[in-house]
Amino acid sequence: MDFFPFLLSLIFLMLHLSGQRVVEAETDHNITKLFVFGDSYADTGNIKRGLASSWKHPYGVTFPGKPAGRFSDGRVLTDYIAQYLKMKSPISYRVRKYAMPHHLKYGMNFAFGGTGVFETLNPGPNMTTQIDFFEGALKDKLYTTEDINNSVALVSVAGNDYTRYTVKNGSIQGLPSFIESLINQTITNIIRIKGLGVKKVIISNLQPVGCLPSTTASNSFKQCNETSNNLLALYHNTLLTQAVTKLNQQTKDHNSSPFLVLNLYDSFMSVLNHPSTHNIMDKLKPCCVGVSNEYSCGSVDENNVKKYLVCEKPKSAFFWDLVHPTEAGWHAVYNKLRVMNVLQQIHY
Ligand SMILES: *[C@@H]1O[C@H](CO)[C@@H](O)[C@H](O)[C@H]1NC(C)=O
Ligand SMILES: *[C@@H]1O[C@H](CO)[C@@H](O)[C@H](O)[C@H]1NC(C)=O
Ligand SMILES: *[C@@H]1O[C@H](CO)[C@@H](O)[C@H](O)[C@H]1NC(C)=O
Ligand SMILES: *[C@@H]1O[C@H](CO)[C@@H](O)[C@H](O)[C@H]1NC(C)=O
Ligand SMILES: *[C@@H]1O[C@H](CO)[C@@H](O)[C@H](O)[C@H]1NC(C)=O
Ligand SMILES: *[C@@H]1O[C@H](CO)[C@@H](O)[C@H](O)[C@H]1NC(C)=O
Repeated sequence: MDFFPFLLSLIFLMLHLSGQRVVEAETDHNITKLFVFGDSYADTGNIKRGLASSWKHPYGVTFPGKPAGRFSDGRVLTDYIAQYLKMKSPISYRVRKYAMPHHLKYGMNFAFGGTGVFETLNPGPNMTTQIDFFEGALKDKLYTTEDINNSVALVSVAGNDYTRYTVKNGSIQGLPSFIESLINQTITNIIRIKGLGVKKVIISNLQPVGCLPSTTASNSFKQCNETSNNLLALYHNTLLTQAVTKLNQQTKDHNSSPFLVLNLYDSFMSVLNHPSTHNIMDKLKPCCVGVSNEYSCGSVDENNVKKYLVCEKPKSAFFWDLVHPTEAGWHAVYNKLRVMNVLQQIHY
């Protein structure tokens, strides 16, 4: 008779499960709001309609089905972090004036595509100004102290700063000191966000910039530029991790670290090294490209004729355009971050 051991293991399983639930309830604070800062990896519609490619067809074709201000065919990093926290994506700062109270419920997104820690090649508020906007929202009492006490922040920034550096200066010798000043300013910024009462600040590290289609176009999207990855991204990420570790040692409250590095670099690389695990067929070739060098994804000519090509299956491509992942790409990165036990550390 196998019934008795079966019953025993069933009881054991039930005890185990109920025990787990208790532990979760004790350690799991309810995170009810998400505040978002940075660039196009995080922006969900802050740039005014008509001022960026994110408002042109075929952006948004997968989600929400039309262009809506996201730099992808669908969901971006912010949407997946919100999903992980079991909340809707927070509303864009741009539309706060038209927002009903229930629209403010999940926090607010202050990220603007194209921006950086410093001035970039694009217009738009730098991260310092975005934090000023957040401070303004708090002064306007859009959120209570308790709201902020139950919130986390997501920061995605730096890529556009390096694009500007490369175009405006480009000196390899000058790069380390530029990276250092960028990290210094970033640390100042995240300390300021924490100082406004946010419980935890999640900051993404730099994606493998040498794998972006904008970099690999010169070799027909065949291989990543290891120099860009090693010299730029890995140095930036090493300094960022060192600085955040130091900061956590200085400011640790209870058993929780208030700052968390979201490892975009490793998660991008892992997906790009094992694309088929994530049903990705095209790993470096972007889904949407201009028909020639003068055009890009979303371009039309003076007669409104499309000057771009879109792949048949955006779901099988990692990159959407020259710098941004597809929704499928972000989803794969998100799954990887979960497997890497990074997201679990958001809970304090
Ligand atoms: C979290 O939210 C649930 C449902 O709203 C509530 O029952 C629970 O007490 C909350 N837990 C904490 C730690 O605030
Ligand atoms: C951010 O932008 C503001 C307004 O343009 C400017 O005054 C400030 O110096 C900038 N901050 C940084 C760190 O570049
Ligand atoms: C903020 O949250 C912590 C738990 O994370 C709690 O101990 C504290 O009382 C809260 N403070 C306020 C002002 O709500
Ligand atoms: C480029 O960087 C170098 C080294 O930091 C610096 O001396 C130089 O002034 C910079 N040039 C420009 C145009 O910013
Ligand atoms: C960055 O900050 C550190 C420590 O505050 C300082 O020693 C260093 O000179 C700064 N570097 C740059 C490039 O601003
Ligand atoms: C990789 O990037 C570096 C630095 O931007 C550049 O100098 C180099 O030519 C690139 N290498 C290849 C193989 O494209």
